Amino acid sequence: MKVLIINGPNLNLLGVREKTVYGDRSFSDYLQDLKSAYPLVEIDYFQSNHEGALIDELHRNGFDCDGIILNAGAYTHTSIALADAIRSITAPVVEVHISNVHAREEYRRQSMIAPACKGVIAGFGLDSYRLALEALLHAAQAEG
Ligand code: DQA
Repeated sequence: MKVLIINGPNLNLLGVREKTVYGDRSFSDYLQDLKSAYPLVEIDYFQSNHEGALIDELHRNGFDCDGIILNAGAYTHTSIALADAIRSITAPVVEVHISNVHAREEYRRQSMIAPACKGVIAGFGLDSYRLALEALLHAAQAEG
């Protein structure tokens, strides 16, 4: 099983940025623990602050990996291009958010990409990524 985690804009600053919202842990630190907890899953990681780079990465991996966990950051709320990219690939995509976007500003309640995704997980801190991975593993098992 091969899963790709894609983080969008400003998520390279996890652990530094708005700690009261996003916590004080860096993503690379969290990723080490996630990889250790799932030794049988090949977990790749990509981060970019650029919309086109995120789309390129979806295209590059979206036909040969088993699932993609995508935190598109603020592009979640604006990007039709990302939604189209998700619809263009075959791998299931789970939309993830660290914070509960529905408990924040009104503009964060809208997701342009959610209708193109298999499901959405939000509000569990960094554990949202593990929950998304579990969802992909269960879906893959169910499909045989
Ligand atoms: C976020 C929520 C977005 O609204 C915000 O723009 C982010 C992070 C989250 O993980 O909670 O950058 O995607």
